[in-house]
Amino acid sequence: MLKCLEEIAQKLVTPGQGILAADESDNTIKKNFDSIAIKSTQQSRRDYREMLFREKKAIQEYISGIILFDETIRQKAADGTPLIELISSADAIPGIKVDRGTKLLTSSDIEKITEGLDGLRERLVEYYEMGARFAKWRAVITITDLKPTRYCINVNAHALARYAYLCQEVGLVPIVEPEVLMDSEHAFHDINRCYEVTASTLRVTFEHLIDAGVSLDSIVLKANMVTSGRLCVKQACSEEVAELTVRCLKTNVPSIVPGIAFLSGGQNEVLATERLSLMNQISNLPWNLTFSYGRALQATALATWAGSKVNVLAAQKAFSYRAKMNSLATFGKWNADIEVGLSSFAQKLNP
Ligand code: 13P
Repeated sequence: MLKCLEEIAQKLVTPGQGILAADESDNTIKKNFDSIAIKSTQQSRRDYREMLFREKKAIQEYISGIILFDETIRQKAADGTPLIELISSADAIPGIKVDRGTKLLTSSDIEKITEGLDGLRERLVEYYEMGARFAKWRAVITITDLKPTRYCINVNAHALARYAYLCQEVGLVPIVEPEVLMDSEHAFHDINRCYEVTASTLRVTFEHLIDAGVSLDSIVLKANMVTSGRLCVKQACSEEVAELTVRCLKTNVPSIVPGIAFLSGGQNEVLATERLSLMNQISNLPWNLTFSYGRALQATALATWAGSKVNVLAAQKAFSYRAKMNSLATFGKWNADIEVGLSSFAQKLNP
């Protein structure tokens, strides 16, 4: 079983490929659909995701795995094919978000705890039987002058470790995602503060993973890049982001971990690609670095689709193009000359 888990983890972070995070919760996808004036219904969500999953050539080439939301893993395409089959037939691995979102920590008016441990073992078995081979759990850490507390980092790391152990027990590779937020309403922090908080979050998370007996060679870490907060006046440049992110990861992530797949976290599409590429130009990295982007893979595709059948081909092209740019970034081979045509629409969606 573990050998197989290791292989799945390796495949998820194969150079040239990365993960499509298509597991937006109902609230998040509603917000995304509001931005293109589309009503979020079971059918519109299905149509949108089906459109992405049917971009078979791009998925085969550039996408190693796709993270689904509970509704999506149960849905069928318009012609009756289960969506999960579209993914497998494009040689990508289906994954599933298994946390149940965040709630306020009782001791705090800002900090959050991720819920979903109750009944998790049974849900994981069901997802495995449905064909999922990896899972995702997202914890969020908010930075202010006085936060995060050690308590918040600890309880979230504890939950991530319990989740990760259960995943491996049933044959799913856990994506471990402790996200230090760069786009919260409190995000006035500079890049050095992000470094400090990301470092402690990663250190504590790995302590808990080790204590829980999680096999670190069979996980994927989904990390934030070390960036300035969205509201910080002085934004760090991409070179600094790349350098500090790699330094922070080298100090806190054991080299036995096969790979780190970044979230985009509110960076626009091109910046997320550029920074991934710069990191992959740094030599002697102990793990593969790739993408597990939601917004930074979908913004232009979503805006191009705009809920209309006539735009499907153009939207698929936009998705395919973005995936290709990020694929190049996993080799450190993206550059601004290759990048063309980010639509102004997407800039508006994702400034
Ligand atoms: P973003 O890339 O939009 O941050 O989403 C990735 C994700 O899956 C967060 O859990």
